[in-house]
Amino acid sequence: MDIKGKIYKDFLHRMDRFKIQNGPDKIKNQHNKGKLHARERIALLFDKDSFEELDAFVTSATPDTGFGKIDEAFGDGVVIGHGRVNGRLVYAYSQDFTVMGGSLGTVHAKKIMKVQELALRVGAPIIGLIDSGGARIQEGVASLSGYASIFHRNIQASGIIPQISVILGPAAGGAVYSPALTDFIFMAKNTSHMFVTGPDVVKEVLNEEVTFDELGGAEIHAKKSGVANFIYEDEENAIIGVKKLLSFFPSNNLENPPFIEKRDKKDKNTDKLISVVPDDPNKPYDVKKVIELLIDKDTFFEVSEHFAPSLVIGFARLNGKAIGIVANQPKVLAGVLDINSSLKGARFIRFCDCFNIPILTLEDVPGFLPGLDQEHNGIIKHGAKLLFAYSEATVPKVTVILRKAYGGAFCVMNSKNLGGDYNFAWPTAEIAVMGPEGAVSILNKRELQKAEDPIQLKKEFATKYRQEIANPYIADENGYIDEVIDPADTRKKLITAFESLENKHIEQPSRKHGNIPL
Ligand code: HXC
Repeated sequence: MDIKGKIYKDFLHRMDRFKIQNGPDKIKNQHNKGKLHARERIALLFDKDSFEELDAFVTSATPDTGFGKIDEAFGDGVVIGHGRVNGRLVYAYSQDFTVMGGSLGTVHAKKIMKVQELALRVGAPIIGLIDSGGARIQEGVASLSGYASIFHRNIQASGIIPQISVILGPAAGGAVYSPALTDFIFMAKNTSHMFVTGPDVVKEVLNEEVTFDELGGAEIHAKKSGVANFIYEDEENAIIGVKKLLSFFPSNNLENPPFIEKRDKKDKNTDKLISVVPDDPNKPYDVKKVIELLIDKDTFFEVSEHFAPSLVIGFARLNGKAIGIVANQPKVLAGVLDINSSLKGARFIRFCDCFNIPILTLEDVPGFLPGLDQEHNGIIKHGAKLLFAYSEATVPKVTVILRKAYGGAFCVMNSKNLGGDYNFAWPTAEIAVMGPEGAVSILNKRELQKAEDPIQLKKEFATKYRQEIANPYIADENGYIDEVIDPADTRKKLITAFESLENKHIEQPSRKHGNIPL
């Protein structure tokens, strides 16, 4: 081709149009809202110069119906492609709010489907950077069908490749459901909002005044609905968080998570582990301290930190290998299991199981939360989800009972009979049908009714119960746990336990799928 020729000049002209398509004003508007442009986000996510864009020159198929302005921009409001994140292949799409509010029409939808299909075909994670007003109103049912096709591909890919959604502006209407079908959702404070129907519709239908933040801001979704797993101050930090999260995952369900060579000593923190759990069973402590002492230094990456905090979940490294941790948090409601913590734990366990990430359970739980609210809202079916998820998981599963393991909660938290591979207990463990106070109120009811000082007598019975029934040795002697261990040895024991389980393989009888109590 003659580089001075007409054909080449036409090509350069198209490239120029492409470069200025969003115009400095539109990008400035985006910046004024505290948001980055779709391409700036892509640049932050991928290793330098590694991103290869696809379908950059396609244009919108939106018909001009006289309603709303049609942007003729190349790309139809979404940037798609693949590149390297810390050297590993990742697919992504990034919605461009400067083009018709990042709304989703047919061409936009087809582009997203293209990367969904490619990512699944090659077995690489996919990340959606979302900034969208939802279904493109001018395209009507074609937009709706585009969304449904994206949802279908999300579901087809679920459990095969990791899928992450990062909400960096509005995610309105249909824009919320694709993220909801992915594995993890990130949000940026102040600038990102997720809602099925916006404040205007809420006002119209229910006559209620709500702000965007109250309805679907990052903090609401992180603390109350549990929809967002991670929230960050701004977009830059959210994207750094995404990269960190990816470092724990294999690229697909047939691979193992990446191994990191840099490791701590096997027997570190032995003295500190001995004193971390208080002798007094009613005294709270922070289970995150136990986690930090057990794992490789500074590797804990907590998931859903602000939702249902009586259960702590997150990824970490143990001797260089990725693990998932599920731990009751005695600092919050004594570590009780309730509806939200059951849902939180169950979903996390299922993710770990999909992607070959071994699970460590740290147990200190007084039981399920009693009361009308919990019973009426379905603690039975929601608690059953946690049971189901633990039992169904075939990845290596190791439990350490730190202190309380009472009642149904003992069974649920990866007990041996539920399929736990190794179940250890510290000498401080209290394993029984229920806590001492509750138990002696039933067993010694008559003596207590007749006693001159029932409070003192109850204390005495409780101490006796703790010594004779609620201890780890009965469970050990009868094989309900594998071993009572010295807390000082826990890290070493866990490393050896997970190493021994590396080739664990369980064949399941063929079935379409189980029927988890949804
Ligand atoms: C077409 C849209 C659009 C949409 C926004 N725009 N949403 N165009 N279809 N869904 C356009 C606007 O007309 C405007 O165009 C530009 O994008 C920027 O929008 P603004 O409103 O000026 O921006 P802002 O004030 O930041 O508000 C953003 C917003 C608001 C909160 C997202 O635009 C909004 O409420 N949009 C509608 C949200 C919604 O209800 N979507 C449909 C959901 S129904 P100009 O030309 O002025 O720049 C749905 C069904 C799917 O998605 C169900 C599947 C399960």
